[in-house]
Amino acid sequence: MKFNILTLFPDMFKGVLEESIIGRAEKKGILSFNYVNIRDFTNDKHGRVDDYAYGGGTGLVMAVQPIYDAWKSVCGEKKKFTVYMSPQGKPLNQQLVQQLSSYDELVIICGHYEGIDERVIEEVVDMEVSIGDYVLTGGEIPAMAMIDAVSRLVPGVLPGEEAYSEESHYNGLLEYPNYTRPETILGKKVPDVLLSGHHKNIEKWKRKQSLFRTWLKRPDLLRKVKLSKEDENFVKKLKYKRRNRVQSAVWNE
Ligand code: ADE
Repeated sequence: MKFNILTLFPDMFKGVLEESIIGRAEKKGILSFNYVNIRDFTNDKHGRVDDYAYGGGTGLVMAVQPIYDAWKSVCGEKKKFTVYMSPQGKPLNQQLVQQLSSYDELVIICGHYEGIDERVIEEVVDMEVSIGDYVLTGGEIPAMAMIDAVSRLVPGVLPGEEAYSEESHYNGLLEYPNYTRPETILGKKVPDVLLSGHHKNIEKWKRKQSLFRTWLKRPDLLRKVKLSKEDENFVKKLKYKRRNRVQSAVWNE
């Protein structure tokens, strides 16, 4: 998958995307990053890319010309799906990450200052994406978060589908807790079921843990996900216990 990143600060990406899993996938040719410096495209003789906002207001607005020409240099006559990182965008969640990972190529525009001239958005942007209801100084950090989340779903980036099919948010639930050696540390022992070698019981335990954690930490997610009858009964029991203040560790059932 190829990411074309239009930014004023290409160097911001390098340390992050050249390391670890994403960096290795780029070396293998599974991912590629094309950094396009918007400033290289300005026609302004002083190299400016921004200007005062019509109608007043604080801050500078990134002008149409350099962004549009940078975008054209990537797309030519063939439009590519273009995302603008913006606090006004569609909230990024795992479902949107999956949708974006189905493209072979994306163009990502990172704004700065007070944002970009609205006419660029109207002309070239297919989707605005936000990483949360807070404002950052630019779209670079949001773009890196989005690229990381999308990249790890590209086949070959992670070792296998199991690497992400069990983790938080993949199936709409939070993931069960994980443990590694040693068996006992800090006076805490790994749950017995995980040492039992009984695969069916382990799967059941993981499912209950997932449901329990989601119910406890993110009840909003639980309302959106489709549950089996067995899952529903388990969640009902949790609610009953809370209402009646029954103290018991649900994973020992
Ligand atoms: N640019 C500034 N803040 C942002 C946010 N929350 N999400 C995406 N892009 C942004």
